[in-house]
Amino acid sequence: MGILDKHGILEKNITLLAIFSFIVVTIGGLVQIVPLFYLENTIEEVEGMRPYTPLELAGRDIYIREGCYVCHSQMIRPMRDEVERYGHYSLAAESQYDHPFQWGSKRTGPDLARVGGRYSDAWHVDHLTDPQSVVPESVMPKYGFLSASLIEGEHIEDLMRTHRFVGVPYTDEMIENGMQDFMVQADPDSDWDGLLERYGEDVTVSNFDGAPGITEMDALIAYLQMLGTLVDFSTFEPDASR
Ligand code: HEC
Repeated sequence: MGILDKHGILEKNITLLAIFSFIVVTIGGLVQIVPLFYLENTIEEVEGMRPYTPLELAGRDIYIREGCYVCHSQMIRPMRDEVERYGHYSLAAESQYDHPFQWGSKRTGPDLARVGGRYSDAWHVDHLTDPQSVVPESVMPKYGFLSASLIEGEHIEDLMRTHRFVGVPYTDEMIENGMQDFMVQADPDSDWDGLLERYGEDVTVSNFDGAPGITEMDALIAYLQMLGTLVDFSTFEPDASR
C-alpha cells in the first residue's frame, strides 16, 4: 500500500479525517502561539510614541462615543495605493496605547490614521459642524452639537488610571496633573510648560475650536490633530531584525 492509498483511507472516512485535521490544526496553532508567551514584547519600540495627553484622551473617548470608527479606519495598509494616498503605512507601535484600538473595518470616509496636521483647526470646526459646507457630496453627519457641550475633565484622572491599568505608562505625576493638563492644552494663554514637560515638546497647545471655554469640539480636534504625527517618518528606520 503506497502513501497515496493510505491517504485515500483518510479521505473516505469522515471521522478519521476530522480527527487528523484537528491534530494538524492544533500543531499549526501551537507553533504560532507558543513563541508569543516567551517574547517580552511583540511590538517594535518606536521613537516618538507617547501616551495621549488628557485632552487627546478625552477626544478619543468622544470619537468612540460618536461612532466615528463606523465610517473611518485608522490603519494604513502597506500597499502602494494606500501609502500614496495617506502616507507611511501604520506601525503596530502607533496603536500601542489604543484601548481599544481603532483600526476599523469600514471606510465610508477616508482613513484617519494620519489626518493630524493635514487641515487647520478651523477647517475641522467647519467640517465637523457641517461637512457638506466644505465637501458638498459628503455623507458625513453633522457634529455641531459638540461645540455646545462644555467639559471640565472631572473624570479624566479616573480615565487615565483605567488606561494605566491596561498598560498605558501614565506616571503618577501625569495622573495627578491630569485635570490641569486637560485645561491648559486648549488655552494658549495659560501656563502649559508642565504639559510639555510631561508629554513632550511636540504637544499642540491651541484653542482648537476658536471659542471660549473647553468643549467636546476642542477635545475631538486635539485628538484628530495628533493622529499619525507622533512618529517622525523622515528619520524612522524599520528594524528588520525583529
Ligand atoms: C456616515 C459615515 C461617517 C461618519 C459616522 C463619520 N464620518 Fe467623517 N467622513 C465621512 C466621509 C464620507 C468623508 C469624506 C467627505 C468629507 O470630507 O466630508 C469624511 C471625512 C472626514 C474627515 C476628513 C478626512 C480627510 O482626510 O479628508 C475627517 C477628519 C472626519 N471625517 C472625521 C470624522 C469624525 C471625527 C467623526 C465622528 C465624530 C466622523 N468623521 C464620522 C463619513 C463619516
